[in-house]
Amino acid sequence: MLANKHILLIVGGGVAAFKSLDLLRRLREQGVQVTPVLTKAGAEFVTPLSLSALAASKVYQDLFDLTDEAEMGHIELSRAADLIVVAPATADLMAKMAQGLANDLASTLLLATDKPVLVAPSMNVRMWEHPATQRNLATLKKDGIFVVGPDDGAMACGEFGPGRLAETPDIIAAIDRVLGDGPLKGKHILVTSGPTHEPIDPVRYIANRSSGAQGTAIAQALAALGADVTFVTGPADVPPPAGVRVLPVTTAKQMLDAVLDAPPADAAVFAAAVADWHVANAGDSKIKKDKAGLPRLEFAENPDILATISQLGAGRPALVVGFAAETDDVIANATAKRLRKGCDWIVANDVSPSTGIMGGTENDVTLITDSGAEDWPRMSKYETAKELAQRIAKAIT
Ligand code: CTP
Repeated sequence: MLANKHILLIVGGGVAAFKSLDLLRRLREQGVQVTPVLTKAGAEFVTPLSLSALAASKVYQDLFDLTDEAEMGHIELSRAADLIVVAPATADLMAKMAQGLANDLASTLLLATDKPVLVAPSMNVRMWEHPATQRNLATLKKDGIFVVGPDDGAMACGEFGPGRLAETPDIIAAIDRVLGDGPLKGKHILVTSGPTHEPIDPVRYIANRSSGAQGTAIAQALAALGADVTFVTGPADVPPPAGVRVLPVTTAKQMLDAVLDAPPADAAVFAAAVADWHVANAGDSKIKKDKAGLPRLEFAENPDILATISQLGAGRPALVVGFAAETDDVIANATAKRLRKGCDWIVANDVSPSTGIMGGTENDVTLITDSGAEDWPRMSKYETAKELAQRIAKAIT
């Protein structure tokens, strides 16, 4: 499947750099053309000669190497490949990428590219767990960078924990996912997820219960089928999936704005548990208890994001999927909701506390379309997401 693909492999500095030689060899075995780029620190661990011998290609090392510029400018080099893989990606390289620095060949290529980028981090566990690295990781994911690993385990530095470079087969599987010809390749799909928080004052808010687990699983399953996913998420409990464009929001109004600002989508899945109301008299200062009487909150209705998008004229996604979280008369309520909102499908679920679905790992849904209600077996949220992603692929391709 990877045969004839072209990968630019950036080898950063780190004990795991030697594993990039194995990665390179396995990629070559699959017929992949690999152009190696070796950072200054990387060259302390592997030699340019071993990389060029295995790749049967020139190794690029220096931004100011005029011969390289004459042969191939750095902009061209960054775009000639189908994918850029950074393995190992050091804390320093990740920081440069997150900041948009371009002070050596590797960071310049990463800033100049218009191709997908996959990073395989590798570093000491303390460096990995440092808030700065975690912040950079979050930024990279938000920018749509794909991440594989790191793995947990014993490290060359004698410590134990996350920080080991992912194993070669896992890196190749991740490359496959990014470059693979999934049925949703080239399709842009928007997913909303998580709750929204509506402020009462600067320290208090009202919200719906939602962990974001089902929406996250849907985004992940769509990305696994090759979709380009924009993931608009309220403050969820679970982290966003890798390899999707993450737009974090807090309120329903911000969620609507993010959805309307996103590029036109081929399909949209509204899995967010949007608060129906916001506090119209929310203030900028904290409501004090000692004021006379209990506070009076005035509510105003939030925009209905699903209905707004379903009823868009031009620019409406070809397929709009809503959710219906119900506790009574699930099918009747969800069927009416589909018509009222104007969406194509509704994924209905019974969120009564006795079902254990809210906050749990499983879901038990009924898919409601214009041809009726189809009951799906109870299964994990990821299995539900995979089934939905496959249905979406069939409907829009
Ligand atoms: N939804 C939305 N914007 C809102 C409210 C809901 O986009 N302001 C979307 C949800 O993401 C979901 C669907 O509408 O896909 C149904 O949400 P649900 O809470 O079940 O329905 P409500 O519209 O809130 O209707 P009701 O409270 O009457 O059940």
